[in-house]
Amino acid sequence: MLKKGQKWYKIEDVAEKYEDSRFTGGGKILDKKERETLLSLVDPKDKKILDIATGTGRFAELLSENGAEVIGLDASREMLLQSEIGSVQGDALSLPFKDESFDVSISMRFLHLLDPSDIDDFISEVGRVTKEKFVFESLHPLSLRMLYQWALPQGSRLYSNSFLKEIFHEVSVVKKVKSHERFIIPYGIYQSLPLDLTEEIMELDEKTAEDQEWLASTIYWEVFFE
Ligand SMILES: C[S@@+](CC[C@H](N)C(=O)[O-])C[C@H]1O[C@@H](n2cnc3c(N)ncnc32)[C@H](O)[C@@H]1O
Repeated sequence: MLKKGQKWYKIEDVAEKYEDSRFTGGGKILDKKERETLLSLVDPKDKKILDIATGTGRFAELLSENGAEVIGLDASREMLLQSEIGSVQGDALSLPFKDESFDVSISMRFLHLLDPSDIDDFISEVGRVTKEKFVFESLHPLSLRMLYQWALPQGSRLYSNSFLKEIFHEVSVVKKVKSHERFIIPYGIYQSLPLDLTEEIMELDEKTAEDQEWLASTIYWEVFFE
């Protein structure tokens, strides 16, 4: 049976409006910042990269423009129809690729759609197909996202750093992890801010998150494999 997060993104209207509903107004600045963050964690040049849950392919496109050979994977055909990057329809928990097919894998705005019991299998599966590292982002439970995440129709799970670190510890292919805490103001609020105020607010947000990491809503992870 399909999970909530898979069903939601198979709705044609949701897929068609995905970018417009998130990345206009303040969301435009957020999108720019997410791209910069990804490029600070992944050097795409001449790398073979898998973008898991690629959706409309915004990060796959970015990495491709910066010199990577990228394949996107997503469960939703409707989302993939919005992407211009070569993609495969499939399940993140059973990746249709041979061992060590990619130098790097990434997965943005996806972990919150996974059940807690699936995360160790997911990290092991990514580790199987990836040689160097996996970059992804998680959403923290003790954050302002708590205000609205219960109402999201696609479902959303927030995972603490300590919960994820325990899982990394259990997955044998994981050699080392690094976390980067960002954004006290969660995505959903940025999306509804006016464009002209967002840059200033984000600057303040970033400074505060640097000093008060425990308040961050968004955590970027680098997971290094053996
Ligand atoms: C919030 S979107 C993120 C898209 C893109 N990574 C981004 O940041 O714009 C989540 C994506 O996860 C995909 N998805 C959900 N469950 C999946 C699964 N089990 N395997 C692969 N993709 C999945 C959905 O179809 C959707 O495209």
